[in-house]
Amino acid sequence: MDSIAIQGGPLLNGTIPISGAKNSALKLMVASILTDQPLLLTNMPRLADTKFLGRLLRQHGVEVTERDGADGQETLFHAPEITSTFAPYELVRQMRASFNVLGPLLARTGHAKVSLPGGCTIGARPVDLHLQALTALGAAIELDEGYVSAMAPKGLRGAEIEFPFVSVGATEHTLLAAVLAQGTTVLRRAAMEPEIGDLARCLTAMGARIEGIDTDVLTIHGVTSLTGATWSVIPDRIEMGSYAVAAAMAGGEVRLTRARAGLMTALTDKMIAAGVEVEPTDDGVIVRRDPKQRLRAVDVTTEVYPGFATDLQAQFMTLMTVAEGDSVIRENIFENRFMHAPELARLGADISVHAGEALVKGVEALQGAPVMATDLRASVSLVIAGLVATGETTVGRVYHLDRGFERLEEKLTACGAQIRRIKDEGDEH
Ligand code: UD1
Repeated sequence: MDSIAIQGGPLLNGTIPISGAKNSALKLMVASILTDQPLLLTNMPRLADTKFLGRLLRQHGVEVTERDGADGQETLFHAPEITSTFAPYELVRQMRASFNVLGPLLARTGHAKVSLPGGCTIGARPVDLHLQALTALGAAIELDEGYVSAMAPKGLRGAEIEFPFVSVGATEHTLLAAVLAQGTTVLRRAAMEPEIGDLARCLTAMGARIEGIDTDVLTIHGVTSLTGATWSVIPDRIEMGSYAVAAAMAGGEVRLTRARAGLMTALTDKMIAAGVEVEPTDDGVIVRRDPKQRLRAVDVTTEVYPGFATDLQAQFMTLMTVAEGDSVIRENIFENRFMHAPELARLGADISVHAGEALVKGVEALQGAPVMATDLRASVSLVIAGLVATGETTVGRVYHLDRGFERLEEKLTACGAQIRRIKDEGDEH
C-alpha cells in the first residue's frame, strides 16, 4: 500500500484551488439513474470514490465519460436504459454512498436489489432510516442474506415523512426517490448540509419540483419524468476546511480559491478564536498565521450543518494538539470517531478519550513517526500533523486519503510543504 512521507517544518505559502465536493458529486452521479437523458457534471473531482461509483453506475447501464471541459474536469452520465437493477455486495461494500442507487433504481424501474453497505448490517451506522422512508413511499422491502430487495411495480407515491433524527444519507436518498413519486412528499427534520441543497438544485434543473431547499422541511411534488442537465458540483467544504487547518497548523499564508468561505463558518469561527486570521475573498478565503504566536485552545462539538462538521473534527483536534491549554472535542454524530487520537499520540500529542469526548492537552511540539491512516478524514489529519512534527512522519494506508482528496501532495507541495508519496508497486489502490 502507498504511504506518504512528510518532512515537518516549512511554512505554507501559496494558493490551493479547491475541488468539487466528493459528498455532493456522489449523490449527483446517482441522480443520472433517474433520466434517460444525459447529465453533465462539471467541476467533478477525480477521486477513488467517484471512480468507484462510476463502475457501479456502468453496470446499471449508465454510460460514464470523463473528459476535460472548459471549466476543468467534467463527466457525462447517460442512462438511456437501465440494464441491471442489481447492485452486488462486492461493489456496494466498498463505499456506503453507493447504497443510494436503491431509491433511484426503484423510482425509475419499479424494482431493485442492492446489497447492504459494507460491514453494516442493521447495527452500527445502519440504513434503517433509508428503508423506513422508502417503505413510506410505498416500496415493499425485504431483507435477505445481506441484500435489500425493493418492489414498487405501480411506482412510488408521495408521503409525509418525519425523520427521527437528522441523517444526510437518508435525506438525500429519499429525495432521489421522491422526485419521481406520484403526488407530494414532505420530508421533516431533513438534513440541511450544502451538498443536499446542491443535489436538490440539480434535480430542479432536471425538472423536479422541490420547495424548502436549504431548510429542514423539503416538499417534493413528484413529476413523471426528468430531463438531462448541466450542473457544476459545489466546492468541497471539507477539503477547504482541511487545507485551512493545514495552513493554520504550519503557519504562513494560504489562499484557497474556487471555494466558498460561507460554507465553513463553524470551522473558521473556531479558528479565529484559536488565533488564526481568516479573510473571506470573492472566490474563497485567505488563512494566515504568524508561526511565532502560539495557537490558543478552543473547545468544539460536532453537530449537523450548520454546526461544526464531524468530517473536520480530526483535523481540528490535530490543530489543538499544539495549542496552548486544554481543549475538549465532543463527537455527536458518529460513535468511535476518535481512531486518529492514538495515532496523534504516537507523534507526541496528549489526548485522552472518554466515550464521545476527547480531552486534548496542548504540547509544545510534535515529533515525526510512522502512523497509520484509519479513515478518510483521520488520514488527512495525520498529514496535517506531519507538517509541523520534527523530522519525518510517514502515513500508511493512504488509500483512505485517495478516496476524498484530489492531488493532495501536489496542492501542498505548491505551498512549500515537503511531502512525497512512496509508491507500493504491488498496490492496486
Ligand atoms: C454523510 C457524509 C459523511 C458525513 C456524514 C455526517 C457522504 C457520502 N457522507 O454520511 O462524510 O460524515 O454525512 O455529516 O455524504 N444513521 C442511522 N440510520 C440511518 C442513517 C444514519 O442510525 O439510516 C446514523 C449514522 O449511524 C450516524 C448518523 O445517523 O450516526 C448520521 O449519519 P448520516 O448523516 O446518515 O451520514 P452519512 O450520510 O452516512
